[in-house]
Amino acid sequence: MTDRVVLVTGAGSGIGAVIAAQAAALGDRVVVTDVDAAAATRISAQLPRSVAMTLDVTSGEQVRAVVARIAREVGPVQVLVNNAGVASDVPFGRLPEELWHRDIAVSLDGAYHTISAVLPGMIAAGGGAIVNVASVNGLTYLGNEAYSAAKAGLISLTKSIAVRYGDRGIRCNAVAPGTIATPIWQQRMEADPMVMQRAARWYPLGRVGRPEDVAAAVLFLAGDGASWITGVTLPVDGGLLAGRLAMADEIVSSAESFEPGPQDEDR
Ligand code: NAI
Repeated sequence: MTDRVVLVTGAGSGIGAVIAAQAAALGDRVVVTDVDAAAATRISAQLPRSVAMTLDVTSGEQVRAVVARIAREVGPVQVLVNNAGVASDVPFGRLPEELWHRDIAVSLDGAYHTISAVLPGMIAAGGGAIVNVASVNGLTYLGNEAYSAAKAGLISLTKSIAVRYGDRGIRCNAVAPGTIATPIWQQRMEADPMVMQRAARWYPLGRVGRPEDVAAAVLFLAGDGASWITGVTLPVDGGLLAGRLAMADEIVSSAESFEPGPQDEDR
């Protein structure tokens, strides 16, 4: 039993809902928050010792009020999981200004608001853990320019908080998931029902991810097993960022045709 007070944002759906469920299964008191109040209530109702609260992370005022309410009604936040995120699926040249700002407002400004709100309580308690759900998009170019910039900013913020508050016992890490089949993909799955199968071909492990894969990594980084890990961004990506076999094969096979290595003579 871990019995921590865990605040998860965007926990009414997808990855956040599974993070909340895995934390509750460990014995934590999970505050399931989401801008979608009904979704937060639905997920929380399935979990022991959990409460639902409506929270739009883009509003600093709302975030401060919810964090204060959690401190009063549940206890000071010991683990913060910044999971809320939205992804605009419009190419850069046609991206309206409001969608650029929206992606950054949810993923990056949202984390600024929540981290700022929980830090005083964590400092007073002598420590705490923050895990940010970034993306492989924050580490390499894969489209979704606004979303990617927001996630890259979130990775930078992760390091800043880790370094600045390490001496207060606060750890701050991130995960960078690859493609995970959740409602965030709904629009693209409706436009192309095969999109997940086509995405899977790019993954060395041969499949897209599950919310459980990400949640397990988040809870590891939030837990005592990671007590000497801070400032890192852990890819949870089936090997996507490790490299491209198709490219390696193409380059190596053409090089071999010019200059065979010693091992090739035995073939
Ligand atoms: P999802 O769409 O299933 O869940 C996102 C949740 O965030 C929803 O419940 C939504 O209501 C909530 N949300 C949206 N705006 C909010 C706001 N302003 N304040 C509070 N909550 C808000 O998506 P999914 O896939 O579970 O995404 C969770 C996180 O994982 C996001 O940060 C996303 O960027 C990240 N991620 C997802 C990947 C994927 O392929 N599904 C890949 C890499 C990262």
